[in-house]
Amino acid sequence: MTDDTTKLTLDGEQIEIAKGATLLDAAAAAGVDIPVICYHEATSPNGLCRICVVDVDEGRVLQPACVAECQADSKVQTRNERVERSRRTILEMLNASVNLNEAPEIQAMMEEYAADEARFPDAHLREHTLIDDNPFYVRDYEQCVLCWRCVQVCAEDAQFTFALTLKNRGHETSVATAFDITMTESPCVFCGQCIGVCPTGALKPKVQWGMEQGWGADEMRQMTRRERKRRPENGDGE
Ligand code: SF4
Ligand code: FES
Repeated sequence: MTDDTTKLTLDGEQIEIAKGATLLDAAAAAGVDIPVICYHEATSPNGLCRICVVDVDEGRVLQPACVAECQADSKVQTRNERVERSRRTILEMLNASVNLNEAPEIQAMMEEYAADEARFPDAHLREHTLIDDNPFYVRDYEQCVLCWRCVQVCAEDAQFTFALTLKNRGHETSVATAFDITMTESPCVFCGQCIGVCPTGALKPKVQWGMEQGWGADEMRQMTRRERKRRPENGDGE
């Protein structure tokens, strides 16, 4: 072991990894798959969803692999009964509050962890009206798992636009623009990066959404184009 590396045991195998590496990095290096939802390689890990939890030294609490650093000589189990139960419960809670119909990766996790879709029969799905306030994309926050990825790419992780934030609390929490202004009034530059990192179909290009609605070519043109700003007659700007 050099000063720059850490040795640990992962699922019974001794591994050596660069100091500061996360447990998710270590698992990837060892070819072990750990499920993630809020984590995305293009965004800063935020440890929000907890689906990636693993058992470190049979500690009191499980550790989120996407943010927890590898500790020297620790024994990590990426999948045991405790880990599976925890992941299953997270999936069941998500399924009880969010429409996951367009989240195939999370649906696959539900199947893999034998999550019970009827585990919380008294729970209520979050209710939001689909937001169609610009020619480029729609937002359906009923399908949002609050992973924060879109907010992050819109902010310091990529675009530095800061068009998105969170509003309300608890079950009513939702991604939104500041003061709920329309996307065209916000600083949004319609780069599309938020759509690219969304894991659930909550954010969707208007063209895709229009096709799903059965729009014809004329309607598509009308609904996805923005009127050009015209220069005033004297041509000296706005
Ligand atoms: S809209 Fe998509 S990317 Fe943004 S927080 Fe919700 S699920 Fe995550
Ligand atoms: S993927 Fe690690 S906490 Fe969400």
